Amino acid sequence: MNDTILVTGGAGFIGANFVLEWVRKQGAVVVNLDKLSYAGNRESLAALEGDGRHIFVCGDIADSVLVGKLLEEHRPRAVVNFAAESHVDRSIHGPRDFIQTNIVGTFELLEVAKSYWGGLQEDEKKKFRFLHVSTDEVYGSLKPGDPAFTEGKRYEPNSPYSASKAASDHLVRAYHHTYGMPVLTTNCSNNYGPLQFPEKLIPLMIVNALAGKALPVYGDGMQIRDWLYVGDHCSAIARVLEAGEVGEVYNIGGWNEKPNIEIVHTICDILDEVQPKSDGSSYRSQIQTVTDRPGHDRRYAIDARKIERELGWRPAETFETGIRKTVQWYLSNQEWVRNVQTGTYRDWVEKNYSGREA
Ligand code: NAD
Ligand code: DAU
Repeated sequence: MNDTILVTGGAGFIGANFVLEWVRKQGAVVVNLDKLSYAGNRESLAALEGDGRHIFVCGDIADSVLVGKLLEEHRPRAVVNFAAESHVDRSIHGPRDFIQTNIVGTFELLEVAKSYWGGLQEDEKKKFRFLHVSTDEVYGSLKPGDPAFTEGKRYEPNSPYSASKAASDHLVRAYHHTYGMPVLTTNCSNNYGPLQFPEKLIPLMIVNALAGKALPVYGDGMQIRDWLYVGDHCSAIARVLEAGEVGEVYNIGGWNEKPNIEIVHTICDILDEVQPKSDGSSYRSQIQTVTDRPGHDRRYAIDARKIERELGWRPAETFETGIRKTVQWYLSNQEWVRNVQTGTYRDWVEKNYSGREA
């Protein structure tokens, strides 16, 4: 075993940010296994082109032969599992891929990792970690005034996406309790920042605003999410990997509860300031109410006191600093945006939004 880590889903939004930051800060080798679904993008990792510390492998976490070979060949000290189908709206239109990757894929990955871990020498076995990256959505929906989710909150997933993530969390937990595997689980709130695929709220609003398109707000726009800048999520995962107690769960959040409509207004106001429209109108004029997401969770809120108390982690960005950085990143990386807006992306937009105007 050496200092190498195996990251899965490292060509997606959070995974790519994590890999870029890990190589920059730790300088150790990352083996990056990603099947390059619609959400995976090699271009996001362009800064590591030709860098021997990044080994990219195109493949599926459910391919146990491939994963077994990678573990034996690279002898990593940890597996960090980001790979997932991650978009709630897509899980409503077609849950099958979510069951396959999030449940079956995580199961296959656990099986192979267990066998690799079981074959390590005693001191290496103690050091090995399997870190599973999960979401606050497994806890269900809160009413106004309900306390924020703690790690002890009962699981009440409401979408096929959150149900599949909940199942994967349970499998990870079971592999610790039954086989003693040294696992860690993190449950994080909504991320935003560079390299996020423009199907999620914040990047969709930025790219649609700049393209003069409608800004589709579901329902009354008063659903609440807790927002965390992606760099902060990555630093929290690195901290949990370094110092988290085996078998424990850590909630990660930004202490930034905001209704969706406020997020959209903030993005419009920043764009009005930094990229004003030629006709002098505000980007807010592009906001359009559309019919709500079925089963839409009303409110998420994360109680992130455990990770602060036990591991000394707190987010570095406020929403105000993070959202400005994010808008600026999309303004400066319009080629990246154009390249991900493929035919299948346009098909998705048509499928999810056509005929939905309220
Ligand atoms: P993403 O959709 O941007 O990226 C997912 C990546 O996984 C893609 O690169 C994709 O190609 C890859 N992938 C999908 N199926 C695979 C498979 N079977 N084998 C190998 N690779 C596969 O997702 P994201 O937003 O970066 O989320 C990463 C993880 O963090 C997910 O597990 C998600 O549930 C979790 N999470 C996300 C957020 C958020 O706000 N985005 C918040 C909390 C937790
Ligand atoms: O809470 C963590 C989760 O956050 C992650 O586990 C998921 O992977 C991630 O996708 C995200 O899920 P959400 O459903 O909260 O994110 P999304 O960006 O799709 O939507 C955020 C909110 O904005 C939600 O209330 C729905 C709303 N929305 C979304 C889109 C895409 C709109 O009003 N209009 C839209 O067009």
